[in-house]
Amino acid sequence: MLHGHLGLGLLANVTSTLPTPDTHASLLNLGINLAYLVSAALFIFGLKMLSHPRTARTGNLLSAVGMLIAIVVTLGSREIVSYWTILAGLIVGSIIGAFLAIRVQMTAMPQMVGMLNGFGGLASATVALAEFIRVYLDPHRDPRLDTLISIGLSALIGMVTFTGSVTAFGKLQGWKFKGTPLSNPLLLPKHHALSVLLLLVCVALGALITWNYQQGLWAMVLLYVIAAVLGVMAVIPIGGADMPVVISLLNSYSGLAAMTTGFALDNYCLIISGSLVGASGIILTKIMCDAMNRSLLNVVAGGFGQEITAAGATSTAGKTVRQMDAEEAAMVLESAQKVFIIPGYGMAVAQAQHAVAELGNLLVQKGIDVRYGVHPVAGRMPGHMNVLLAEANVPYELLSDLELNSEMEQCDVALIIGANDVVNPDARRPGSSIAGMPIFDVDKARTVMVCKRSLNPGFAGIENELFFLPNTVMLFGDAKKMVSAIVAELKGH
Ligand code: TAP
Repeated sequence: MLHGHLGLGLLANVTSTLPTPDTHASLLNLGINLAYLVSAALFIFGLKMLSHPRTARTGNLLSAVGMLIAIVVTLGSREIVSYWTILAGLIVGSIIGAFLAIRVQMTAMPQMVGMLNGFGGLASATVALAEFIRVYLDPHRDPRLDTLISIGLSALIGMVTFTGSVTAFGKLQGWKFKGTPLSNPLLLPKHHALSVLLLLVCVALGALITWNYQQGLWAMVLLYVIAAVLGVMAVIPIGGADMPVVISLLNSYSGLAAMTTGFALDNYCLIISGSLVGASGIILTKIMCDAMNRSLLNVVAGGFGQEITAAGATSTAGKTVRQMDAEEAAMVLESAQKVFIIPGYGMAVAQAQHAVAELGNLLVQKGIDVRYGVHPVAGRMPGHMNVLLAEANVPYELLSDLELNSEMEQCDVALIIGANDVVNPDARRPGSSIAGMPIFDVDKARTVMVCKRSLNPGFAGIENELFFLPNTVMLFGDAKKMVSAIVAELKGH
């Protein structure tokens, strides 16, 4: 739904406002604004309901209905330049969107969300350009100052969002440039000074466009080019475990871009929906920053994770790793009284959520106190683990966040399913690339079972000392296969 404003923006692009000289037109305008008000109310209630898994589906539906009303009203209330263009856009966009949504793996959702943000930004920037060309070509038009300012802001924020999102997509997709993974943070010499300089140039160009738009076509084109470079510059220094913050920040930018486009077009619905996306994106960014224990400035300044290679290269030679098979793991679990299950990205890769839920249920039936620890940045998108566990019907009451740490010392078995960074004690070491990030203190549990395929690092690229602790045992293998094997053992007992 949050990306629906993109469609609305494009619609608004090929329309223009009706003149309202008589009562009939005033009544029509009133009706339109009331319908937009209903849409906005539905968006707000929808967003509120999205904050809890139980109400999330209804919330999504409410928001979708709000978006439908907004689209229908926009289509019916404006002087449509060409319904055919809109129809062609709808068909092509729907086919591409449906194809991508069906094909995308759950593990690739963050990239998909990143690109949707980017398209939102591009749509806003395109609408701003179209609006500028319209006023530029019409000698009788005298655009308001606030319209010109909005056009400039929409172009700037929209392009930064677009190229920033494409860069984030490349990082999450594991693209390489000349053999170097894009996911590594890259700080150019004088990077931040250069970024500030580019931003100032954009502001100056925006001022020029506002001051004298009739001479400002070249300035507008230059603004687009520089804003595009700025978007790349803003995202390349960020890497490793900080990526969730970037994605949510870009989400917020896409909302701000839509909001400024709404001002440029005098479209209240776009202003409200853009503001909602912008504000909720910022709130999500704050939650992500808190989860990483970083300030926003600290993340945006970037360059973290640069010691990834050094830390990641630390030798495992001489360190002892204990391992168990499914049969032994089942025996240990069966004799436990308190078991905490901590899922991570590997559970999503293996699609092991149903097996994990079955294991949890079996343990509960045996009278064991089972809880699931969901870290705010576990997986690759906000709420990733919640979605998977809900899909497998894990009761919400059994889910807990980092509060679980207060009971960790009484936990008999901390069972880690495909998680790595979110349980890495290296976060407690000053200088580590994930230093300060709150983690599940699973090393304090009596026994730690880690189910993953190897000793390889997680997203942040750093080795995990947890695997070598005396109370840790590794359950090597694909999470779904291993957990299913444990379930089979427990059922056989
Ligand atoms: P990670 O630290 O990325 O670790 C996932 C582990 O899963 C890997 O070490 C991998 O080890 C294992 N794995 C992969 N496939 C598996 C399979 N089929 N079966 C069993 N294990 C498998 O995950 P995490 O602990 O969830 O932490 C998330 C990380 O992603 C954080 O650094 C976070 O900042 C970052 N991030 C999060 C988000 C959001 S919003 N959640 C977005 C972008 C990035 P093996 O290869 O040895 O199996």
